[in-house]
Amino acid sequence: MLLLRRFPTFTLTLFSCILLCESNTLKARQTVRNFPDGFLFGTATASYQIEGGWNADGKSENIWDHMTHNNPCVTDDCLNGDVADDSYNLYKRDVEMARELGLDFYRFSISWSRVLPTSFPDKMNEAGVQYYNNLINELLKYNIEPMVTIYHWDLPQKLQEMSGWTNPHIVDWFSDYSRVLFEQFGDRVKYWITLNEPREICYQGYGSVTMAPQLNIQGTAEYMCAKNLLVAHAKAYHIYDKEFRATQGGTIGITISASWMEPETEDHAEAAEVMRQFEWGQYAHPIFSKAGDFPPVMKERIAAKSAAQGFQRSRLPEFTAEEVEMVRGSSDFFGLNHYSSVIVFKNESSLTYDVPSYYDDIEANGYQPSDWSGAASSWLKDVPWGFYKLLTAIRENYDNPVVFITENGYSTYGGLEDEDRITYYRGYLNAMLDAMEDGSDVRVYTAWSLMDNFEWMRGYTERFGLYEVDYESPERTRTPRKSAFVYKEIVRTRALDFNYEPNTTIMTIDEGH
Ligand code: NOJ
Repeated sequence: MLLLRRFPTFTLTLFSCILLCESNTLKARQTVRNFPDGFLFGTATASYQIEGGWNADGKSENIWDHMTHNNPCVTDDCLNGDVADDSYNLYKRDVEMARELGLDFYRFSISWSRVLPTSFPDKMNEAGVQYYNNLINELLKYNIEPMVTIYHWDLPQKLQEMSGWTNPHIVDWFSDYSRVLFEQFGDRVKYWITLNEPREICYQGYGSVTMAPQLNIQGTAEYMCAKNLLVAHAKAYHIYDKEFRATQGGTIGITISASWMEPETEDHAEAAEVMRQFEWGQYAHPIFSKAGDFPPVMKERIAAKSAAQGFQRSRLPEFTAEEVEMVRGSSDFFGLNHYSSVIVFKNESSLTYDVPSYYDDIEANGYQPSDWSGAASSWLKDVPWGFYKLLTAIRENYDNPVVFITENGYSTYGGLEDEDRITYYRGYLNAMLDAMEDGSDVRVYTAWSLMDNFEWMRGYTERFGLYEVDYESPERTRTPRKSAFVYKEIVRTRALDFNYEPNTTIMTIDEGH
């Protein structure tokens, strides 16, 4: 008061600056923010995480069946995806939930070993094809677009025994499989995602033990996987482009996982950038940059280290000039899975990591400060500003590509009152709208996940669903959480209203769905 009386103009300016300048977030929270016309909302799942029916009707074994059957307590709760959400039988309920939410599309993945039990197109499993036809037709009956991921981590075990993604022949195996899907389902599927999260497939599966097939062949296998995977993706893309696009009229791209890497201080800016280039530039640069190929910093650093370590050639395989051209531009959109951020600092100590290894090549380390609030998953902290920075970097680095957010979500340990999940979704959607206001061309948003499901090595201990799944009941009863009601309202109004309080007594299907 005293201040106001003595310095009225100054104080008013200061006061309004506090209100207006404090942050965009504050400004936005006081209003309802609208999404642009044509913006699409959906939810996502993946075959191994929800389907069950692991050996039903002619399906063969995949790497997750194999690993969890041979080493049951590889997952935290010693459980597996044998039954999971039983969506193989309960898919109509899944579609009903999509209708309840009023979704524009539903993203799901196809199980390679369910459609092609030999892994190859010599023998098609009619029952498997029928299952996906049923799901697709059920969605379309209610005007929900199917968005199909061709590969979400469940490689046929037989292909793994032939070295999986480190065998260059996988370019043909994957593109033959993709062609089968275009032929079978492309008359009705207009959104295709070739591969989900290359980093998790290659680094976690081949350079570590945190995903099947747990090869842990560090510093080499993950790079071979990366190269083959990118070429396989590009080949499938070009098959669609040349043989199917004209008649089917769809769109096709890849989904890359990316966290935001924030430098600890300015001194660590270069380390953070190197880490970005390794962690997601590795897959984005070959496809979305003007020059194509792996990021220069990866090529230089791994070549130099490999020479010093006594290798005859770089541990990072080279693309031929023809492959660079084939991969460059091979995605109609930048599919982005984003969840969280890390603080990065430079770390040259070779004592921290095995040599050679991926993180020894990076020479940086990341952490999440203890005051960042977080989800049930140890790696998932609620950092909406990181989403804004990531979208900005993608816009600036890759000439403002069309972006589809193909996953974003939050885990709890269960329960229907999920305020933290609601806070997370609102914060991230708000940050995304900020980036869009700055010019980012985001067209699609997908919540992970429609319902609780098998969270890989975490089993069923971490829950990502808008719907809770009761794994004790044979019907795998699905019940909407509070966040489902909030998401439904966002989709219905095409707007983000921080003050909306849902009535959670009954979930209905609105007219038109
Ligand atoms: C990304 C993966 O695509 C999905 O399968 C997983 O469940 C979520 N992240 C949450 O960890």
